[in-house]
Amino acid sequence: MPNSAASTPTLSNAFTATDAQLARMASGLARHIAGDNTAGPFARRVVEHLPALRKELVQLYGHRDDFEFFLGGLLAMAYGQWRERSAELKALDDSRDGDPTWFQSQRMLGGVCYIDLFAGNLRGIEASIPYFQELGLTYLHLMPPFKCPDPHSDGGYAVSSYREVNPKLGSIADLRRVAAALREAGISLVLDFVFNHTSDEHAWAVGAKARDPKFQKYFFIYEDRAEPDAYEKHVREIFPDEHPGAFSQLPDGRWVWTTFHSYQWDLNYANPDVFSAMAGEMLFIANLGVEFLRMDAVAFIWKRLGTVCENLPEAHTLIRAYNALARIAAPALLFKSEAIVHPDDVLKYISPEECQISYNPLQMALLWNTLATREVNLLQHALEHRHNLPAGTAWVNYVRSHDDIGWTFADEDALLFNINGFNHRQFLNKFYVNRFPGSFARGVPFQDNPTTGDCRISGTAASLVGLEQHDPHAVARLLLLYSVVLSSGGVPLIYLGDEVGTLNYPDYINDHGKADDSRWVNRPPRDLTRHAQRHDPNTEAGRLYAGMQRLTKVRAATEAFAGGRLIAFWSKNPAVLGYMRPAPDGHVLVLANFSEFAQSVDAAVLSAMPASAPDLLGGTLVNLRQSVTLAPYQTLWLDCRGR
Ligand code: GLC
Ligand code: GLC
Repeated sequence: MPNSAASTPTLSNAFTATDAQLARMASGLARHIAGDNTAGPFARRVVEHLPALRKELVQLYGHRDDFEFFLGGLLAMAYGQWRERSAELKALDDSRDGDPTWFQSQRMLGGVCYIDLFAGNLRGIEASIPYFQELGLTYLHLMPPFKCPDPHSDGGYAVSSYREVNPKLGSIADLRRVAAALREAGISLVLDFVFNHTSDEHAWAVGAKARDPKFQKYFFIYEDRAEPDAYEKHVREIFPDEHPGAFSQLPDGRWVWTTFHSYQWDLNYANPDVFSAMAGEMLFIANLGVEFLRMDAVAFIWKRLGTVCENLPEAHTLIRAYNALARIAAPALLFKSEAIVHPDDVLKYISPEECQISYNPLQMALLWNTLATREVNLLQHALEHRHNLPAGTAWVNYVRSHDDIGWTFADEDALLFNINGFNHRQFLNKFYVNRFPGSFARGVPFQDNPTTGDCRISGTAASLVGLEQHDPHAVARLLLLYSVVLSSGGVPLIYLGDEVGTLNYPDYINDHGKADDSRWVNRPPRDLTRHAQRHDPNTEAGRLYAGMQRLTKVRAATEAFAGGRLIAFWSKNPAVLGYMRPAPDGHVLVLANFSEFAQSVDAAVLSAMPASAPDLLGGTLVNLRQSVTLAPYQTLWLDCRGR
């Protein structure tokens, strides 16, 4: 690493021979940081990443006369934030530089919870660290802890200040302490970057309501319906129960863009001041000790008239610009994409230069699809064609998140199996709200839209697999879903509470701030009774917990589960999913039975496998020269390495 005395001159000399604008920016910055003899690493990263940062920003704002001034201001701000970064985080920056794919380890295991519902407040989260360690977590996503209105908070996703913690949960100092304590325990803190919108109580929105010209330009606000009508010709309705279209009307008659709730105002990134202001908030959040930023609602962050205003190329450019800025000022920070859209579009957010990790909503939706149909076709196809990711990136695989389940599979894929996407979604919705004969699920509809026929599903994993009515297969079903999530590569994520089978929470309806949003049915408070039963094998919670522990422990000990590469394995039994996880000395073969009947895989299908292989989960040696039978909902992790 260059020493600081030498690096400032490097910055002032950088690009002189190649690029006059970059040279001017670098020497301006060098003057700005002259005298700071600790700034070497920052200067080095500017030299390395400034070209990428400019390349992205030019596409968004390069047409403006003040572009160079804007970029200079951004760099000065980034330096200010980097200076504020603690010595521990700077050390983490250096160590992660040398190990960019550290998150691909098979020991990586995520958990997610609401701070208040799981532990009361941030102190409660700190006190829960021993439990997180018992689970084996190395990653913890806490739902947004920042200041937000009461009751109009969308569970924290309507932020009114990114620099203050919701007083009910604690303080900024508490949040910093939690981050440090988690890191000490080997757990990376994950927080949201809710950057598509702010709460209508954020100072910027308050300014815009008062017609402050500066802040009106932060949002999409119109005096009449002309532009809203023009935009709405092409955009989807996301929360139609709450308000039709994409706009909400203010008391003074103006219209404001609100993709989600009316109190969540979409930010206008065509305004470079919005980019800079949110960049400051991003680096502030990073400096709290956050290692992954969950990039909330990425699909929606750029709007262009005449388009669907989702997944536009500028959205990608914007995220890559933030990524380049993070490489400069908070390099340990990685991005996680939350794009719950068509699988082709999900993929476009994933690269080392954009979001290093991403939710895998396709696998999630198809796991539930497969439980309903007992046919692995669509999931098997997705694993074969839509699973492997570019180097340096990973899926976050999950069974349930805090949100609804949307059936975001590709209709083109479904057609390959003669499945009509629209009709099939209708079936799945009926199945999961228990309006289909024989269904074991107890979900509820979310944003049922009779005009379009669109509907999504709310409900906890436990209630959706049948635990609510003590279906005899419910525990095995939930373990089956987690067995796939835990063995298909990337970072598996547990919605905390699933490990003990927490049921739906219908009482949300009595809470004024939650009653109109059925997703709260799958956001129950921590179930202390089930939690206390977790070591008792005579309870459902205990059987589930023991099964989860078995899965997570075996996974962590099995190197073949590192990374994300997978080779699909067609079992030739329509109810049995198959894939291989390659390792240097062979592979682990996963076979998973999605039906309530025993199923066999023919010996002929297994003929390329070794003669026998231990099942890592059950501990028995399985003969692969005769057909292999799986019990209802059983998963086998067959260790074919070194044999
Ligand atoms: C994301 C969150 C969701 C929230 C929405 C608006 O999709 O996961 O809970 O309602 O963004 O912020
Ligand atoms: C966000 C919301 C989710 C919704 C989706 C629509 O991810 O959280 O509820 O289904 O957007 O794209």
